[in-house]
Amino acid sequence: MTIRSLLVTGAAGGIGRTLRTSLKGRYPLIRWSDVVAMAPAGPGEECVTADLSDAGAMIDLCAGMDAILHLGGQSTEAAWPVVQAANIQGLINLYEAARLAGTKRVLFASSNHAVGLWRRSNLIDHTAPARPDGRYGLSKAFGEDLSQLYAYKHGIAGFCMRIGSCFEKPANQRMLSTWLSFADFTRLAIVGLEADYTYEIVYGVSRNTRSWWDNANAYRLGYDPQDNAEVFAADVEHIIGAVPMDEDFQGGGFVSPDFTGDPARIPA
Ligand SMILES: NC(=O)c1ccc[n+]([C@@H]2O[C@H](COP(=O)([O-])OP(=O)(O)OC[C@H]3O[C@@H](n4cnc5c(N)ncnc54)[C@H](O)[C@@H]3O)[C@@H](O)[C@H]2O)c1
Repeated sequence: MTIRSLLVTGAAGGIGRTLRTSLKGRYPLIRWSDVVAMAPAGPGEECVTADLSDAGAMIDLCAGMDAILHLGGQSTEAAWPVVQAANIQGLINLYEAARLAGTKRVLFASSNHAVGLWRRSNLIDHTAPARPDGRYGLSKAFGEDLSQLYAYKHGIAGFCMRIGSCFEKPANQRMLSTWLSFADFTRLAIVGLEADYTYEIVYGVSRNTRSWWDNANAYRLGYDPQDNAEVFAADVEHIIGAVPMDEDFQGGGFVSPDFTGDPARIPA
């Protein structure tokens, strides 16, 4: 797809700030948005401060945008009202605004926490049903379904990236499986922005030797990750969580907080 105008939400966040450099000049207009202040706009850029929970602001924000890369929102576990405002109602506001604007595709920053209650002993792929490990994970599972609704019902192509751990370097043993380098995130986002598809789920993960995810669907669409967390193994292999149960499940430290169930009753 030829993109003349791209909206990136969550532009002030960890991933958004790196994209500001890595996507620079790739499309004629990139509109960067966040609820907090951003670095000033350069050539070919606009910066718009807007809150996802404000439906009217989202309509103004999406106007004229060919494509949207949606990174904004609550990015860790939080109380229901916080998750609901940014990641449920906020997402509805954004997709409705995209529909009204005639936007052709929306890339959604989903999360491994949408499938966090799968065990690490499972190698799962893009067909694995959601198994959220908390309120935040549930909001990402909701986002994947919302994306599918708008793809099939309204013709807005949907690209849901179940991101693992997108940071400069892996910080612990778990991230040797889940790490996504910033450079590989840019590669994946470009696939999502430019490939031909209607609705896809892919994993946002580098080419890690220890990955728990079969990412063949992303590779089929053209994703070719260049990084592997294994180069950091000696530095972080010894760093594991304090709660044994968290080390069994893919969601790691998001699993045990508030947990009152019986892990044995979670299917293999
Ligand atoms: N970094 C990771 O490892 C990782 C893993 C899985 C999923 N993700 C998802 O990727 C996206 C980006 O991650 P990140 O690490 O850059 O997160 P981040 O928390 O650094 O950035 C999120 C941005 O969203 C903005 N935001 C929050 N509430 C908002 C609202 N109501 N309206 C508008 N903007 C709002 C914040 O100000 C922030 O700048 C998030 O959606 C996150 O859930 C990230």
